[in-house]
Amino acid sequence: MRYERTLEFARGLDAGDELRGMRAEFCLPRGRDVGAEGEWGEREAAYLTGNSLGLMARGVREAVGRELEDWAKFGVEGHFHGANPWVSYHEPFRELLAPVVGARASEVVVMNTLTVNLHLLMASFYRPTRARWKIVVEDGAFPSDSYAVDSQADWHGLTPAEAVVRLKPRAGEEVLRTQDVLAYLREHGAEVALVMLAGVNYRTGQVFDMDAITAAGHGCGAVVGWDLAHAVGNVPLRLHDGGGSEGYGGGADFAVWCSYKYLNGGPGAVGGAFVHERHHRRVDLKQLAGWWGNDPAERFRMEDGFRPVGSVDRWAMSNPPILSLAPLRVSLELFKRAGLERLRAKSRGMTEYLSWLLEGARGVEVITPKGEWERGCQFSLRVRGEGGGGAKAKLEELKRRGVVCDFRSPDVIRAAPVPLYNSYEDVWRLAAGLGLVGGV
Ligand SMILES: Cc1ncc(COP(=O)(O)O)c(C=O)c1O
Repeated sequence: MRYERTLEFARGLDAGDELRGMRAEFCLPRGRDVGAEGEWGEREAAYLTGNSLGLMARGVREAVGRELEDWAKFGVEGHFHGANPWVSYHEPFRELLAPVVGARASEVVVMNTLTVNLHLLMASFYRPTRARWKIVVEDGAFPSDSYAVDSQADWHGLTPAEAVVRLKPRAGEEVLRTQDVLAYLREHGAEVALVMLAGVNYRTGQVFDMDAITAAGHGCGAVVGWDLAHAVGNVPLRLHDGGGSEGYGGGADFAVWCSYKYLNGGPGAVGGAFVHERHHRRVDLKQLAGWWGNDPAERFRMEDGFRPVGSVDRWAMSNPPILSLAPLRVSLELFKRAGLERLRAKSRGMTEYLSWLLEGARGVEVITPKGEWERGCQFSLRVRGEGGGGAKAKLEELKRRGVVCDFRSPDVIRAAPVPLYNSYEDVWRLAAGLGLVGGV
């Protein structure tokens, strides 16, 4: 497509966007509420921070209100009566989430939060032995993931230095090359117990070749797990079988994610987990257990002796938090309505447009890889300046114009046009705020 730098052109792209109606389903913050000044304060913000906290869907108040009403009206009977009986409240989430992560419904469950799920699944899938004890992560892993793997090593009597391998980008490079992960596994795979990477790096926006890494991990006899915090709802995933048509995931053993970013589940929302069905009925697998993982047919007999259900639910521990699940359901229904393919097509449209607008920008370096398969909707922009000062000053300037992005140490601005509610005009406003196109 031939792009132009004018606002009219961006608005023309919005007029042709078949998903433009979805924006009205969300509450867009007003400029002044997020720090915009002057006339920008009166307009809707260009909210480009869905990579951190997704927006609230308009239907959320009613959805949460309905559960509050049922609680008020039925008390404990709300578990079995009311609009959505709570005893099975989590069930519809499987069907809604399965296509988003490319899994079978029996492989997906909503529960806990990301780091908790990571620990729960590592309790089963990181079982170091004398022959195999290493966990492979990226050096740039999200701190919570680093703490989790270090403490798992410690839990098993190993030091992080002995057990945790942190793969680094090459000198002078920004992102870890997939080929370097594969090379490590080829050389040291016999010692690797677990490969645990993020599908999308939180700081750079890099999307890993999850199919290739999963295959290589399995090829050397390791377990492969993914942290999909920045991937779920952002890039197409195919956790069950990977490969084939478009999607990432490659038949991984397990994956975990949070729901407050692209899935718009709300602050601290309930996370999710995937365990491949080949593990569901394994009797040799150790696990930490709770009553929600027990066979539901026997759950209320209140007997001793854990009888795990033959699905990912065997890792579920507690009855789910209804009030915190309600917003997620509203958002997942919107994903379904929008259609994953249409969302991906719009996401690509917006990233290509933003890429074009950023070409040749002075003082701003895009550190997100350019390849169509190596990025989702997040752009990470390095802005030079003492102690991150350049990036922080730019961020403030953007904020004054009602453009909401975020900062990651030491000098990176993250901006994520999400296809569900962002517009091409939002993308244009980012470029205008960076001084790349004429202002309005
Ligand atoms: C990549 C990644 N991993 C882990 C976490 C921690 O998630 P939680 O606080 O839900 O455990 C985050 C949070 O943003 C994240 O981005």
